Amino acid sequence: MKNTTATFAAMKARGEKISMLTAYDYTMARLVDASGVNAILVGDSLGNTMLGYASTIPVTVDDMIHHGAAVVRGAKNALVVVDMPFMSYQASIEEAVRNAGRIMKETLCAAVKLEGGAETAQTIAAIVAAGIPVMGHVGMMPQHVNQYGGFKVQGKSEEAAHKVVSDALAVEQAGAFAVVLECVPADVAREATQKLSVPTIGIGAGADCDGQVLVYQDMLGMFDDFKPKFVRRFAQAGAIMQEAFKAFDREVKSGGFPDESESFARDPHEVKRLY
Ligand code: KIV
Repeated sequence: MKNTTATFAAMKARGEKISMLTAYDYTMARLVDASGVNAILVGDSLGNTMLGYASTIPVTVDDMIHHGAAVVRGAKNALVVVDMPFMSYQASIEEAVRNAGRIMKETLCAAVKLEGGAETAQTIAAIVAAGIPVMGHVGMMPQHVNQYGGFKVQGKSEEAAHKVVSDALAVEQAGAFAVVLECVPADVAREATQKLSVPTIGIGAGADCDGQVLVYQDMLGMFDDFKPKFVRRFAQAGAIMQEAFKAFDREVKSGGFPDESESFARDPHEVKRLY
């Protein structure tokens, strides 16, 4: 069944959990979509996972459109949400609406996501007024990494916890249909989830959010450099892929690949000596 923003609202009303995974290309979108997850996020995390940057800061609107359009072509039922990258919505509301419109028009995604609390409320309201559904993102916002001085859990003190909840409420009031809560203490996420009437989607935010999102390379164990505390490895796909690559290398070098069944033959009636 096709997931829409209305599906998200209905699932929250029924107390059903919402699942979301990232994907950044057509093949992965097809695999994720076929699993039955409710939503696919084309996150600006593609800056790290696909493009090898140290942060999401260098990611451009064109990068998001390139990957977002490929994912939309592969997703039949999942709601596709595309991230607005750094500096595509911060300079002015007009620029934010234009960039959100470009992302939706050129990818055919169902919604955009942007980071920020109360300070982005007017921007969210303007994008929603243009007919573009918005998913909010509060708590730890990777585009603010230089302000934090690293990727740090947010909302640990009383004051900071209050800010996370009030930011989530401001984003909801501005018209967001859902809000990502990233790297906040579980009780802060629980309070936000109870207070909001739109669904919260957690990543490193405990079990009481209305839904959960993970980056697929993290949950498939596709790199070992580091593993954030909140990641569960649902498979060791990285190890399986490495074994397959090694087997290919061995077989090519030993002459075992390709064999006759993997090669083409000419029509036996047509075979004449070439020379
Ligand atoms: O960019 C991304 O993948 C995200 C998720 C981590 C929520 O924003």
